[in-house]
Amino acid sequence: MQPFPWLRNFSRQLRGKNPFGGNCPPSRVCLLGRERPTLPVPLPWNYKEPLKIFEAFYIGGEHEDGWGKHNRYLYAGGISPVLVTRDPGMIRAIQAMTGDKSGQFDRDTSPTAGIARATGEDSLLYSNGSIWRRQKSLVAKPFSRGNLFQLHRFSGFEKTFRNTVARRLDVLRQRQLETGQSRVRVEMDLEIKVIMLEMLVNNFFGGDVGYDDLRNHHVPALVYLIDHIVRDTVAPKSQALARLFTGENRMLNKHREVFNVLTDIALAGRKNKSGLWSEFDSDAPDAALRSNIMVFLAGAMEATTSFANWAISHLSHSPQWQSKVFAEVKTMDCYDPDDFTGAPNLNSVLEETLRLTPALYFLPRRAVVDTLVETKDGRTMVIPAGTHIRLDIWHANRCEEFWGEQVTGYPANQFAPERWEAMEKKGLSSKDMLHFGFGYGPRFCPGRSLGLLEVGLVVGAMVKLFKFRAVAAKTGATAGISTKPSDNVEVELELRGQD
Ligand code: HEM
Repeated sequence: MQPFPWLRNFSRQLRGKNPFGGNCPPSRVCLLGRERPTLPVPLPWNYKEPLKIFEAFYIGGEHEDGWGKHNRYLYAGGISPVLVTRDPGMIRAIQAMTGDKSGQFDRDTSPTAGIARATGEDSLLYSNGSIWRRQKSLVAKPFSRGNLFQLHRFSGFEKTFRNTVARRLDVLRQRQLETGQSRVRVEMDLEIKVIMLEMLVNNFFGGDVGYDDLRNHHVPALVYLIDHIVRDTVAPKSQALARLFTGENRMLNKHREVFNVLTDIALAGRKNKSGLWSEFDSDAPDAALRSNIMVFLAGAMEATTSFANWAISHLSHSPQWQSKVFAEVKTMDCYDPDDFTGAPNLNSVLEETLRLTPALYFLPRRAVVDTLVETKDGRTMVIPAGTHIRLDIWHANRCEEFWGEQVTGYPANQFAPERWEAMEKKGLSSKDMLHFGFGYGPRFCPGRSLGLLEVGLVVGAMVKLFKFRAVAAKTGATAGISTKPSDNVEVELELRGQD
């Protein structure tokens, strides 16, 4: 253990020495550079634009030969190196080597410090080492695909979903009656959040919270807290100081209280084994599960909403793909798991959505010791202990070299669900072409089946009930904990006739 690591860093930085080794080391990012969209570090004035911060890492790298343009490092100010990579081979290798075994990477907790302060540290998302391993085995059964795709379970999700959509339809009909218009403008973001939270709280955790309560109290509290978490991660001290003067503390406490009530409701199902609690087998006291429940409630609402929002947003710009999905779902009176998995167009839309606009746009890792990583094609990188690693999924999936016309038949930055069929014809399986939308390796998302189920139901039913088109000609992206369409998915909805 070095007594003063920052001193070693400083001296190396002054000498301009690349701290990485191997036959594929990353190339250096200069802090100063004129053409960059912003500085390559989060600061109080640019933290709301993390996608630009990542983009800044690649500026100047285009002159590098080979992989140096995709693997970049920053090493300045006496701090440990920061490695940003959009190289799919390296991303895969680093994820595969993340875990609790000696010499493996940890998840870097620094970008989730605000989450831990809001929910507690003892959660599957935040923990590393043996605590993470124990928690992972606890959630394996309730989250498993085999469990979620049982017919009785599935119909529970479907019922909740139908109830919620029926309410929206009612609102829409009312508005049509009042205005006499055939189309109404709706921001789908809020609607989707309520549906997602309702499915999670009532179906998954066996709660019984009414739609209005969710919409008017719980969703706004979670939205407020998620926004707070982002600010609290980037500038905790200045935010705490500012809150003292703005009276925001009162607001924060109020929303925390609402979140605590929701967590109590989710935990209450455990006693009578309602919802998926029936699959949960542990004598851990409720208090020990609290952090995880909070992460599931806030994190799952955020991730599933981001995913569904993006899918609806992409479809709102593509009447052609809406029609293709409609042709599959129009005859489904009730969704059963087989219908759902046998809808290839809907599945291609969902895959392409996660590729082009992943909900989690970067995955943080940290090297515990000096670590040698080897990609499948034999490239090596030695990553020094203490390095903060950012697996930049957003830019990897938009890189023409990996996902563009030469490889998949369509430009990388275009929403083209047809690329998945084209790739299959070329013999490229989705195992070769990983988009990392749910991660990879030991820290793969345990909520994948639940998330896909919820998003598939929402998108499928949305297409079945409505034709919709985006109000804006083009939709940009914003990012906080997850990515979002910048227009809150504002669409014009039109009830479908008997097409
Ligand atoms: C459908 C939308 C979802 C997406 C796109 C998504 C994405 C991801 C990704 C990419 C990771 C890997 C993070 C990493 O490697 O650092 C992850 C991990 C995780 N996800 Fe999800 N997720 C979704 C839904 C859910 C749901 C519904 C839940 C729970 C109810 C959930 C709970 C978790 C947890 C606890 C982890 C951490 C696992 C670990 O570190 O071992 N996710 N998710």
